[in-house]
Amino acid sequence: MSQIDRRSALKLIGAAAAVATSPSQLFATPNGNWLELDARATKHKLHNSDQALPSDLWGYNGQICGPTLRYKQGETARIRFTNSLVEPTSVHWHGIRIVNAMDGVSGLTQAPVQPGETFEYEFELPDAGTYWYHAHNNSWSQVARGLYGPLIVDPVEHTPLPAEQDIVLMLDDWRLDANGRFDEQSLGALMDWSHGGRMGNWLTVNGQSLPKIKLQQGAPTLLRLVNACNARILEIDPNRFGAKIVGYDGQPVKGEPKQLAYKPLLLGPAQRVDLLVQPREQFALEEVSGEPFPFCFFEVGTGGLPAAPYVHPKPNNIPLPHPEDRLKFQINMTGGAMGMMGDITYQGKKLEGEDFQRTKQLWAFNGTANLAEQPMLIARRFETVELDVINNTAFMHAMHVHGHHFLIEDRDGDGVEQPDHWRDTFLISPRQSTKIAFVADNPGKWLFHCHMLEHAAAGMTSWFKVLS
Ligand code: C2O
Ligand code: CU
Repeated sequence: MSQIDRRSALKLIGAAAAVATSPSQLFATPNGNWLELDARATKHKLHNSDQALPSDLWGYNGQICGPTLRYKQGETARIRFTNSLVEPTSVHWHGIRIVNAMDGVSGLTQAPVQPGETFEYEFELPDAGTYWYHAHNNSWSQVARGLYGPLIVDPVEHTPLPAEQDIVLMLDDWRLDANGRFDEQSLGALMDWSHGGRMGNWLTVNGQSLPKIKLQQGAPTLLRLVNACNARILEIDPNRFGAKIVGYDGQPVKGEPKQLAYKPLLLGPAQRVDLLVQPREQFALEEVSGEPFPFCFFEVGTGGLPAAPYVHPKPNNIPLPHPEDRLKFQINMTGGAMGMMGDITYQGKKLEGEDFQRTKQLWAFNGTANLAEQPMLIARRFETVELDVINNTAFMHAMHVHGHHFLIEDRDGDGVEQPDHWRDTFLISPRQSTKIAFVADNPGKWLFHCHMLEHAAAGMTSWFKVLS
């Protein structure tokens, strides 16, 4: 079961004491200018013990994690991307309701950018909130090596909080070897692909080990959590430090921020949660799936500038699904270890015997692994699409829709407690069914896939088309 995988130890054997550094944040001030972003090999120390050796990683602008890109709602991002890697890549702007040609999906919305080549990404940012960008070619390897960074869009109608009160925390688990180095050898292991995906044994925040971050006592402070793990579902408990929920997947919650009524909060790969704290005393962010593991420390001090007030953002302008007039579509998820394999068709051919090992296609949607020539679904523009997703596997998955945010309307026929929040990625438990709905207002070819990147590569990727 995925439970066991998720509990797999996050602490590296012989982990040493914390080194206090605050995460580096690079703010891009675009002013309509082109921003230079590249992907390149870089050395970075992932573990804070003195004995740990630096890892060979890939980073945007050579940084682990990549620079924070920051824009205002309605602005146009202009990013000149250069591929300085040894293999093709492309950049996806996760959660942005973006024009299709800029979605950055190699093999669907663009040809991958070859080594040495440049691609200009130019797109409007319709929604304020917490987003991120990451590689979208061989993502299971490229994201695992560090190709990701935050993308923050500030609302226009009020001044954003100052940097000391607005903190991005990109969380990632890494699989380190006995020397504390990124374990490259184990990338692509069939065992991970057929089970819960690649789990790490060490957690970093913005690429750093166990950082200590200074906060101002009593100042309303936004903590923007992004799960950049390949496959790990993080379990956190915001009630342990009195945090309120501001938004999920970039979209603010309705009304005022509230405390979570249950615990823990499961943050799946690619999901974001924005938390609001008003710290009185020091606290830590902990992974609570097993013995609580504190991995990010907050020190609280006084003095400094007077704190700015928090203003809850207005909802972004996302069209509401039509209650009846809908294109309904069922997606049956199968495959993987400990489940029914079922028949799998890949590139038009039914797999059998050794095909599975050779193609590494182990999961399917409606019996098809990976991108077929034809989309799974074609929607007219502005049509409401209802996806009824049934997880007939033994694992939890983190399902992501490109180009659209959706509402979760039902789980297992029991409804949902509150008309749920807008999301771009939802978790689905083993044997669970989940109904989501959205207005297909964005023409183009869009992916629907599991954001556990090994699952996506091993078959859990499909696409749909929205007509123009
Ligand atoms: Cu975060 Cu297909 O993407
Ligand atoms: Cu999955």
